[in-house]
Amino acid sequence: MPSFLETAIEIGREASALIAAAVKRRGEHDHSFELKGEYDLVTDTDRASERLIVQRLQSHFPTHSIVAEEGGGHAGSSEYRWYVDPLDGTTNFAHGFPVFNVTLALERAGELIAGVIYDPTRDELFTAEKGAGAFLNSQPICVSQTARIQSSLLATGFPSRKRHLNVNIHFYYQIAMLTHGVRRPGAAALDLAYVACGRLDGFWEFALNPWDVAAGILLIREAGGTCTSMSGAPLALDGPHLLADNGAIHAEMLHVFSEIFAGRYAFPLPEINRG
Ligand code: IPD
Ligand code: CA
Ligand code: CA
Repeated sequence: MPSFLETAIEIGREASALIAAAVKRRGEHDHSFELKGEYDLVTDTDRASERLIVQRLQSHFPTHSIVAEEGGGHAGSSEYRWYVDPLDGTTNFAHGFPVFNVTLALERAGELIAGVIYDPTRDELFTAEKGAGAFLNSQPICVSQTARIQSSLLATGFPSRKRHLNVNIHFYYQIAMLTHGVRRPGAAALDLAYVACGRLDGFWEFALNPWDVAAGILLIREAGGTCTSMSGAPLALDGPHLLADNGAIHAEMLHVFSEIFAGRYAFPLPEINRG
C-alpha cells in the first residue's frame, strides 16, 4: 500500500498537470478570472484542480477530513485532516506570471505529517514527511546557513482580502532597509519551499490560511529551519502571522519585528521629492 506521502505526490502531480494544461490552453493573453472579493481572484482552474484533488483524496481516504480553499472540503470521522490549496498564486496564474503551485498537507491529531508543493512551471516537486526529511525532486534539501539578516534574502506577501487593514508595508520597508532584499513573489507555499531549500533565508506574512502554509511549515522544519509567529509564539496554522526562516536569523528577525510592533522604526520614510 502506498504511504500517505506517496499518494499526496501522485495527486499533486495530477493537479499540477491540470494546471500546466490550463496554462497552455489560456496562452499568454487570456487573463480571465472571477472575483471572490474586491481584489480576490478565482479561476476555473482553481475550481477544477480542487475538484480533482478532493475527489482523489476522498476515494483513497473516505474517513479523512478535507479543508480546501474553494470550499470543496468536508468533515470526516477520523483524526486525519488534509489541507488543500488547489492553486496557490492565483493572481499570478491569472496574469500569466509564472509563479504558482499546488499544495496539500496531511495532519494527524493536530500534527503535520506529510506535505507536497508542486511548481508546474519549473517541474519542481517539494516533499516532506515528519521525521524523514525534506526533498526537492527526490534530492534532500536543507535551509541556508546565513547567520545575519544583513546578508539575508527574504520574502513576504500581501493578502488579497481586506488589504487596506494590512500593516505589512511597515514591516516590508524596515526589513528591506536591513537586508539584501525582500522579494514578493505572490505564492506563499513556494516562498516557504524556497526557505526550506535555501534559496531564501526567511519569509513572513500576516493572515495566511492553513492551506497556504501547512506543507511549507513541515518542509522547513524537516529541512532544519524554524517557524513561529512573528512575536515568537508557537505556531498555529490559523494564527495571525508567521515567521519561517533558517533558524540562524530567527532571534534577530524577532527582535526587529518587536521593535516595529512597538512603533520604533529604525528607518523613517523619506520625504517624496516632487521636483
Ligand atoms: C495567496 C498567495 C499570496 C499570499 C496571499 C495568499 P492564493 O494565495 O499565497 O502569496 O500573499 O496571502 O492568499 O489566494 O493565490 O491561493
Ligand atoms: Ca494560497
Ligand atoms: Ca488558492
